[in-house]
Amino acid sequence: MILVTGESGQLGTAFKELLPDALYPTQEAFDFTTAESIEAALGDMAPTAIINCAAYTAVDAAEDDEATANLINAVAVGEMAEFCATQGIPFVTYSTDYVFAGNGTEPYVESSPTDPINAYGRSKRKGELLALAHPTSLVIRTSWLISGTNPNFVATMLRLAATRDELAVVADQRGRPTVAADLALGTLHAMEAGATGLLHLTNQGSTTWFELARTAVADAGLDETKIAPCSTADYPTPAARPAYSVLESERLEELGIEPLPPWQESLPGVVEGLLARGLAG
Ligand SMILES: NC(=O)c1ccc[n+]([C@@H]2O[C@H](COP(=O)([O-])OP(=O)(O)OC[C@H]3O[C@@H](n4cnc5c(N)ncnc54)[C@H](OP(=O)(O)O)[C@@H]3O)[C@@H](O)[C@H]2O)c1
Repeated sequence: MILVTGESGQLGTAFKELLPDALYPTQEAFDFTTAESIEAALGDMAPTAIINCAAYTAVDAAEDDEATANLINAVAVGEMAEFCATQGIPFVTYSTDYVFAGNGTEPYVESSPTDPINAYGRSKRKGELLALAHPTSLVIRTSWLISGTNPNFVATMLRLAATRDELAVVADQRGRPTVAADLALGTLHAMEAGATGLLHLTNQGSTTWFELARTAVADAGLDETKIAPCSTADYPTPAARPAYSVLESERLEELGIEPLPPWQESLPGVVEGLLARGLAG
């Protein structure tokens, strides 16, 4: 049976809809930081493949807690990859656009050199290397993950747009929003194609947080003109963010994997889901 970690997160939730018969241990049952031996825990579950959706994703908090980020995003990933290689079963894990410095203007492909500028990005890069040391691993880099099922940037924007007269959103960071449901389906296609190694998988098109917020708010039937652009300097955060982190794939075509849809096509489903679940109000 396929084992999916991170069942309560955005991507784990998307897999639950797509693969209802997979095994979804809760964090309580399988905590990467307290599991005495990840290998022993996995042996008990006897998976036929592992899709690792669990991660330390609190980008700002990681600045003061890099050790925990490393444990979850790197050490545990390496142990799962080693277990899967020993068993001869597929291991899929996820990484991020934040492994890049983001000072370029051309999309990053799988072979682009990495240079993370924050603790989260460093921990994810370590996890990539530990996973890629094993032959049955597939590391999928994705970016700006959103969903209609869990709290996220879009949910926050909808909530604030419904209650505030004005809202300033960063307009000088560019990337590719990726809808968790599209990514989960794309992951299954990549597994069916037997992909291993590193793969970039995002929705198509690029945008800024400002444009994404405006589009989502308009999709929700709210007044998008309430949203004004601001700069990263106007909105300082503990962790630095790459200014430009558009991911492109140089491998999808050769693997025969359909690209994910443009982000604008998938966004209305996200907005609809958030409104229906009361996550935007
Ligand atoms: N979110 C983004 O914008 C983004 C962008 C690029 C790449 N990614 C990558 O995409 C993947 C999926 O992200 P996501 O947005 O779905 O993440 P998420 O919503 O933050 O979910 C993270 C999951 O990991 C679990 N988890 C946290 N600490 C754990 C631990 N010590 N042991 C076991 N499980 C633990 C969480 O459980 P609890 O809910 O119980 O804490 C939750 O189920 C991650 O690898 C992430 O790094 C995300």
